[in-house]
Amino acid sequence: MIITLTNQKGGCGKSTVTMNLALGTAALNYNTALIDTDEQKSCIETLQDFPKTNLQLFEAGKNVGELVEKIKNKFHFIFIDTPPHSHNIMYNAMAVSDFIIIPLQASPLDIKSAKRTIDACEKVEGKINQKIPCYFLLNRVNPRTKLSKEIGTYIRELYTIPLLQSRLHNRVAYAQSLMYGKSVIEHNRSSDAALEVTKLLREVHRLFQSKNGK
Ligand SMILES: Nc1ncnc2c1ncn2[C@@H]1O[C@H](COP(=O)(O)OP(=O)(O)O)[C@@H](O)[C@H]1O
Ligand SMILES: [Mg+2]
Repeated sequence: MIITLTNQKGGCGKSTVTMNLALGTAALNYNTALIDTDEQKSCIETLQDFPKTNLQLFEAGKNVGELVEKIKNKFHFIFIDTPPHSHNIMYNAMAVSDFIIIPLQASPLDIKSAKRTIDACEKVEGKINQKIPCYFLLNRVNPRTKLSKEIGTYIRELYTIPLLQSRLHNRVAYAQSLMYGKSVIEHNRSSDAALEVTKLLREVHRLFQSKNGK
């Protein structure tokens, strides 16, 4: 299953979520690839000194589609991190994806600006003449705030794209764990961050199972 994490807005958590999903999936014994298509190479630079069983890192640019074709039979899961502004890379990654996840911060500014990413996704769907399931993921939500309750309704009023049930909150663990090349789960299995990423992994893996008719 090929999942692209994308949003033309920088700083919404694409790389953080990609790394946690890839590390978490590899730790569950799935053969996992992470393709970093951002020229800043955040994922590669963060993880390259911490080799993991079942996880292979790849770099790509506009050729991401060809790379996916070449490696896809070797992996259960391929996660693709995308850059904020390169349209071609984003389009090419979307075109080879089974699912797209759009991380969003819980603010009207970020939510409104997601429209451009959704338009891009629709353009790709038109080009390949195929629907690509697309989901929003709320990230950096401040726990126990009124906003955290209101934001789901706000999104549903603006878009028809579904929101994943799991959401990630604003927690230092996301930065801290990656200093050691670890997911929040490896870093501290019983932390709140680990629990929410575990829930997200289950939800993403369920999408995989339903796609494969299991
Ligand atoms: N859930 C979170 N809680 C706290 N900080 C986060 C969270 N997700 C991302 N961050 C931080 O936000 C910043 C931007 O995240 P990043 O993953 O680089 O976004 P993007 O790849 O979309 O530009 C980083 O400093 C990262 O550590
Ligand atoms: Mg990034």
